[in-house]
Amino acid sequence: MKQKILITGGAGYIGSHTAVALVEAGFEPVILDNFCTSEKSAIDGLSAIIGFRPIVIEGDCNEPSVLENVFNTYEIKGIIHFAAFKAVGESTQLPLKYYHNNIGSLVLLLQTMQKFNIKNLVFSSSCTVYGEPKVLPATEDTPRQDAESPYGNTKKICEDILFDVTKSNAGNKIISLRYFNPIGAHPSSEIGELPIGVPANLVPFITQTAIGKREKLTVFGDDYDTPDGTCVRDYIHVMDLADAHVRALMYLAKQEDNFYDILNVGTGNGNTVLEVVKTFEKVAGNDLNYQIGPRRPGDVVKTWASTEKITRLLGWKPQYSLEDSLRDAWNWELKLAKR
Ligand code: WQD
Repeated sequence: MKQKILITGGAGYIGSHTAVALVEAGFEPVILDNFCTSEKSAIDGLSAIIGFRPIVIEGDCNEPSVLENVFNTYEIKGIIHFAAFKAVGESTQLPLKYYHNNIGSLVLLLQTMQKFNIKNLVFSSSCTVYGEPKVLPATEDTPRQDAESPYGNTKKICEDILFDVTKSNAGNKIISLRYFNPIGAHPSSEIGELPIGVPANLVPFITQTAIGKREKLTVFGDDYDTPDGTCVRDYIHVMDLADAHVRALMYLAKQEDNFYDILNVGTGNGNTVLEVVKTFEKVAGNDLNYQIGPRRPGDVVKTWASTEKITRLLGWKPQYSLEDSLRDAWNWELKLAKR
């Protein structure tokens, strides 16, 4: 009998790719999603990759009855918690929406886990907690900065909640994964990123510009203290990120109760915005229409991950290059255009 793993937000970008990695590792994903920021078509694509339709429950993690029903129905051995709102800009306009959803759903999940004696949890955190790291690469001991946004603050608060819960001898075994910049899509182009409206993030804006959905990319500032004046980020292929979740789950199973740790998930390399643009042009085989514009308020100038700890503890190493990620992102955009 395959161990069932609950993926909250499992129809989303990272959740759906993690469902693929879970199946490939011999687990059975149970997807809980309210589809408020994801599409049901993601389940079709996921099913095409894994060869069967996974268990999908349409529901909200903030509803006690929804979680109780899942745990009463399925023997859940572990949970990967993706369900959260993640639009940085929107969070500054609607902070209560973000505090209620992102923090409320985690608290309810932890309470329900305790009620059903489910211990193992992998939590989706973000490098945003580091703000502008003073020393690079950022290690897990890099001091967390005041969040630039309510979204970023919810990630910091959730990490504190997880730490306090494991300190309280409740018996949980928890890992927070601090994602750097997830990009790309499954190599099959069956699943990928589905931004809502105008993409806030760089790579989907690039691919939508290249396909003709956007007129041109604006590079937000080229006067920073970086090799070419544009900001530096650690862009990690979503399948490498998915693999990190599976390894984290398997690692937790071997730990004692009341375990908590934090791991960065990035490539360990930083690339500038213009390096991403130039790499994309090479992959797509044509020039991208872009202009240099003003800086975007709140942008971190330079950040990239130290991956020493996740490699040492989980044996995890990124398998995809920036070129691979941009090729998969572009192939996904081309597939979307045919829908
Ligand atoms: C990357 C770089 C922009 C768009 C955000 C969240 C973070 C995480 C990942 C959720 C920056 C530049 C972007 C554009 C541009 N989200 N850019 N033109 O801001 O590093 O991280 O997404 O977990 O929490 O903060 O990612 O892709 O928005 O920006 O020049 O049209 O691309 O200035 O330097 P970011 P991003």
